[in-house]
Amino acid sequence: MKHFTSVDDIQDLNALLDIAQNHKQNPFANEDLGRRKTIGLLFFNPSLRTRLSTQKAASNLGMQAMVMNLNTEGWLLEFEDGVVMNGNKAEHIREAAQVVSQYCDILAVRSFPTLADKQKDVSEHVISAFKKFASVPIVSLEGSSEHPLQAVADALTIREFKTKNRPKVVLTWAPHPKALPHAVPNSFAKIMKLSDVDFIITNPDGYDLDPKITNGVTIERDQNKAFENADFIYAKNWSSFENYGQILSQDLSWTITSEKLKLTNSAKFMHCLPVRRNMIVSDEVLDSESSIVIPQANNRTFAAQAVLSEILKNQ
Ligand code: CP
Repeated sequence: MKHFTSVDDIQDLNALLDIAQNHKQNPFANEDLGRRKTIGLLFFNPSLRTRLSTQKAASNLGMQAMVMNLNTEGWLLEFEDGVVMNGNKAEHIREAAQVVSQYCDILAVRSFPTLADKQKDVSEHVISAFKKFASVPIVSLEGSSEHPLQAVADALTIREFKTKNRPKVVLTWAPHPKALPHAVPNSFAKIMKLSDVDFIITNPDGYDLDPKITNGVTIERDQNKAFENADFIYAKNWSSFENYGQILSQDLSWTITSEKLKLTNSAKFMHCLPVRRNMIVSDEVLDSESSIVIPQANNRTFAAQAVLSEILKNQ
């Protein structure tokens, strides 16, 4: 593994999950692998889980982590070529990526989408520029169209909690007051397509995800029907992909409630967090034994540790 910026970078999902599981059972078994190596964690956007779990994963592997909130602590970066830099952007990605590569053995970047420029977002404009100009491996800490470390943690969590060989997994849209990215549902859909599960997506009209990603997946408009016999309910909001970045609905009848879970096969409730209570999911569900969001978040460390250790092994 050189870069890890998409679920498409996973060559063998089961092997990667085995590695994550081994790290979970014995977190310090490879503490010499990253000795005298440095990871740079560059954040253009806020984070709680991704920042701390990736830092912890690096530390478990013996790496030093340098963390920087680029938007508030660094120079504003220019990504376009050929521009006269007479505005507020003081540094070009061409220099910044090369310079930081000299300080780090791995660079990890979080950069959310514009939700205004679909082409730019789908092309992973910022992370692609780091891949182009940096000389070290790039890891996505959530890009504009994918959140692959989250997806690995999600797949690991389903593997741990499933009670049958081929569980039914439902990705459901749920309401939210803000326009949110497609990165989490895109990566979740991709990784479920690699998994031994019955996978369906349920969302209202106008909220279909990128058809290139959901190709072959059943999309059900009736959430209640989708929930029948489900073993896992993965809730997430996303803005419209077709009417790019728009909020078309805040319909609270899509909120995950105890009544909805009664339609399922005692399904486990999943969400990547942070989650808006009583918008996405009721207090009752989130505080119940059905919810596995806390162990799901714990698995972020071991997903990151698996990916970092695979990259370190190739260095
Ligand atoms: N799930 C996730 O990526 O959480 P953070 O935004 O807090 O990192």
